[in-house]
Amino acid sequence: MWSSYARLFRYVRPFAWLLVAAILLMVVSAVIDAFSLVLLIPFLQSLFGMQILAGADTSSLERLLDGWFGGWLRSGDPLDSLRNVCLLVLGALFLKNLTLYAARLLTVYVQEHVERHMRDDVYGHLQYLPLSYFGRTKVGQLITRVLNDTREARSVITFALTDVLRQAVTAVTYVTFLLLLSWRLTLVALVTGPLVAVVLSPILRRLKGSYGKAFQHRGELMSVAQETMSGIRLVKSFGAEEHERERFNRTSRRYARRMVKANALSQSAGPISETLSSLIALVLIWIGAYMVLGTGALTAEVFIAFVTMAVRLVSPVKALAQFPASLQLSIAAAERFFEVLDARAEPAAEKVGTVRPPRESIRFHEVDFEYEPGRPVLRGIDFEARPGEVVALVGPSGAGKSTLVDLLPRFIDPTGGRITMDGRDLREIPLGSLRSLFGVVSQETVIFHDTVRANVSYGTERSEDDIYAAVRAANAEDFIRELPEGLDTLLGDRGVRLSGGQRQRVGIARAILRDPPLLILDEATSSLDTESEQLIQAALERLLTGRTVFVIAHRLSTISGADRILALEDGRLVESGTHAELYAAGGIYRRLCDLQFAAPGSGGQQAPS
Ligand SMILES: Nc1ncnc2c1ncn2[C@@H]1O[C@H](COP(=O)(O)OP(=O)(O)O)[C@@H](O)[C@H]1O
Ligand SMILES: [Mg+2]
Repeated sequence: MWSSYARLFRYVRPFAWLLVAAILLMVVSAVIDAFSLVLLIPFLQSLFGMQILAGADTSSLERLLDGWFGGWLRSGDPLDSLRNVCLLVLGALFLKNLTLYAARLLTVYVQEHVERHMRDDVYGHLQYLPLSYFGRTKVGQLITRVLNDTREARSVITFALTDVLRQAVTAVTYVTFLLLLSWRLTLVALVTGPLVAVVLSPILRRLKGSYGKAFQHRGELMSVAQETMSGIRLVKSFGAEEHERERFNRTSRRYARRMVKANALSQSAGPISETLSSLIALVLIWIGAYMVLGTGALTAEVFIAFVTMAVRLVSPVKALAQFPASLQLSIAAAERFFEVLDARAEPAAEKVGTVRPPRESIRFHEVDFEYEPGRPVLRGIDFEARPGEVVALVGPSGAGKSTLVDLLPRFIDPTGGRITMDGRDLREIPLGSLRSLFGVVSQETVIFHDTVRANVSYGTERSEDDIYAAVRAANAEDFIRELPEGLDTLLGDRGVRLSGGQRQRVGIARAILRDPPLLILDEATSSLDTESEQLIQAALERLLTGRTVFVIAHRLSTISGADRILALEDGRLVESGTHAELYAAGGIYRRLCDLQFAAPGSGGQQAPS
């Protein structure tokens, strides 16, 4: 925990001087604030026509005030004095707020920039984490890490360095002023107040806690709603609307009951604490009044100034008391934040020199892979791909096809065996250089919220001619030219939305422009209608030529021309050969073919011959 603090404060260090300035301003502001309350004394005195600052011989604060402003305040008639006091109060309030504003501005600046540094650090680090990390962690969680946890962790700094300091400075200033006004009364207050707080706070915490727990049941409500909404098709097709409505109503009613019960407890916290604190206040006032009327140790106006200031002391003290709890929340966030930052990044993904594309072969040597220990997904995969070959992977869904191709750019590493390129283990090749050899087109082409140009030339700067050439080869020129601003049209969430086939062609153009010697197509055509499939098919043919290609296709017609077909079943390589060979062999590939071409509604495909 302490190490988390230390690491957090490393983010603050560049702003240390700004913070020091902010703290100084806070001190100034707190002193002026307390001072403006002391002005109540001459105000009351002039209001009641008493002699102004007559008690200068008894209280040091009055003496100070008398030294500075005594002459001015006493000049003229009582009305003039009253006006002068008011002017003084106004001036003090103005200065106090000015300094407070400046202090807050500085702290906000520091906070936002500390948070920015944290956010940028964690985001940058995420880019370099291995793919396996993202498989384990939900995207929503990661976004929370980047945006929410940094904000919450930052509040350690908000609280510790600004709020708490400000409250502490205010409290210390007030107490000092109170002591100067009447040390006896201050001592009484300082003894009774904390005593009651110590007794009261555990009770209050229990009461408030019950509310927090009930609030968790809201999650239940949310998950019911989410389930139904995301499965609305199912609900409707089963005519289960009424059933769902009732299920939600039941949970909803339970939640409401719990909330009422919890509130019955938590709402009592306020009244209880107010009753008790009024009790202390009354005791104090009674003692004070006794000092005024009985012993004459205190004048009425000083007493009133004292009580006013004591009341103002309550809120900073309360805030200070809550500090540990809020600190704990944010330190938890800080720890989650550092957990991401400490996750091992991939071995430097930057390019170290270039690596030649394979000239002899890419070979899998008895490769095993498992995502979770003890549950193999690939077993003893052994095959060779020669440069320029199109290698097709077929097999039922879940057979491990995508996993197999993920091994090539080292999104994941084999847990057994090895993969070599021209005899060299992939793990010996600098990661960035290895990946620069590959292009990937998959089922879901990611379209960024950016221009067509940036989407096609993703990650590089290319000339307009190059981009158009790629777009043309990808059969995407027609629709891109029809977009309102051509290559400069914004795509994505808040821009123009593309159809599935159009997205896919943008993805293919991206791959063509990158011109990789090695290409991976993972179900690139599986979610398309027949019409755009033909366009894409033609674009793909163009993309395939002159490269080594690993293609996974749902529709077997798209791969019948492959040089080599590998059939996977349950993580094992069960057949390998050309279409003709495998079809004749009558094994799993034959079964898959027959199934697909016999199936009604298979998109009117012709069995390849
Ligand atoms: N990130 C992952 N973590 C754990 N298991 C996974 C992960 N990705 C895929 N799998 C499992 O590995 C097996 C093979 O998946 P995959 O390679 O996607 O099959 P295919 O592409 O042939 O449909 C499946 O059983 C799948 O559940
Ligand atoms: Mg797959």
